Amino acid sequence: MRSIQFILLLSCLSFSALAQSNLTPAQRDSLKQATVADHNNMLQQLGIAADQLRKGPSGNPKDPNAANSSEEKVNKYILPDPLVLKNGQKVKNAKDWLEKRRPEIVADFESEIYGRMPANIPAVKWQLVSTKDTLVGNQAIREKTLKGIVDNSAYPAIRVEISLILATPLAAKGAVPVVIEFSFPRSQFNPGNVQAIGMGSAGEPTWQEQLISRGWGYAVIAPASIQADNGAGLTHGIIGLVNKGAHRKPEDWGALRAWGWGASRVIDYLETDKDVDTKKLAIEGLSRYGKAAAVAMAFEPRIALGFIGSSGAGGVKLLKRVFGEQVENLASSGAYHWFSGTFIKYASKLTADDLPVDAHQLVALCAPRPIFISAGSPEVEGQWGDAKGMFLAAVHAGPVYRLLGKKDMGTTEYPLLGMPLIDGDIAYRQHAGGHSTGPNWSTWIAWASRYWGL
Ligand code: GCU
Repeated sequence: MRSIQFILLLSCLSFSALAQSNLTPAQRDSLKQATVADHNNMLQQLGIAADQLRKGPSGNPKDPNAANSSEEKVNKYILPDPLVLKNGQKVKNAKDWLEKRRPEIVADFESEIYGRMPANIPAVKWQLVSTKDTLVGNQAIREKTLKGIVDNSAYPAIRVEISLILATPLAAKGAVPVVIEFSFPRSQFNPGNVQAIGMGSAGEPTWQEQLISRGWGYAVIAPASIQADNGAGLTHGIIGLVNKGAHRKPEDWGALRAWGWGASRVIDYLETDKDVDTKKLAIEGLSRYGKAAAVAMAFEPRIALGFIGSSGAGGVKLLKRVFGEQVENLASSGAYHWFSGTFIKYASKLTADDLPVDAHQLVALCAPRPIFISAGSPEVEGQWGDAKGMFLAAVHAGPVYRLLGKKDMGTTEYPLLGMPLIDGDIAYRQHAGGHSTGPNWSTWIAWASRYWGL
């Protein structure tokens, strides 16, 4: 029962509510009002009246308008072919993929879903706040706390400082591989009484301990230090700084790309740190940060491996598939800030069928780099994230990996719960736990060892 309540909490309340639970009711109200005002401003810019915006299904399976969770009720949908150019020609080699088709797909994701990065993003200066030799569990680490200070001389009213923690094994003899995590509030930075999501399951070493004992390191980014996780924050953070406090234009970037930009700036720092082997960097995240991890990897070639946890809709779940969370949910005032304003059209004048790209092409943008897609059990995690929709995106990215001489998952058949599909450069595993990457860490590490060695 507790786990079901937990799923409902995840699906319905969303984590921003959790993160904001230290606000007073009045502060929460004003945040909500500012979010609704920003959402309305974007609707106006798009020429969409409030009653022209469709509502998404409910994340509560008991509601009469519950999201579809039955395979029999899945719609028929057509996915854009990642290997056919817009002019109808087939992509037959790696050169055409890289020079012609990939840029087409990038352009569609930028103009229709995630937004475009502005050309004039100010520079970031990294500052080492502290270094200490300490323990994570019983593993000895060197832990550095860093701040990435964004130049705000063009608009001093907004300050942005990226918070980063880097841990490497104290015993390391040289530079080590590092997994970068987008962390939820209350975990690394702000340990509270809530069990942090994405950590090891009870009784197992945490993911940090597993990485350190393997001889690898980890870096933890606080996404909210880059861009707030709500619509009210769009006139602040890095997006607000570039816009000098004004509302976004419809094609401007959303929070997912802003978080991805932050990860790229973290990598700029890591490239200057002799403890880090920057040829061996991975990105990991869960849920909205799983979406962020996928987007970061798609757009940042220095990320070598991915671990995309329960990213669901807006991440690596097929958006055209009617199962679990839908575009209409993402376009609402609770989630639109993750995307460009233009994405809202697909919950109004257009539908998901009209999207020129889908999640299999987001996975394909990561090719040929190895990517591991992770989901939890439907009974514990719920069906909101659509584990099969994520598997299918992995399947349909396969042709691109093959074209580039890499191995796909090796099957198109949905695996049994717990079965790892880890022989290829696209990997998938649905673990038996809940909304967490925790139970998949050991499998991920085994798979990553193929690339990073012992
Ligand atoms: C909500 C949201 C999901 C998101 C999740 C999370 O459930 O609908 O899209 O992934 O929150 O980030 O926790």
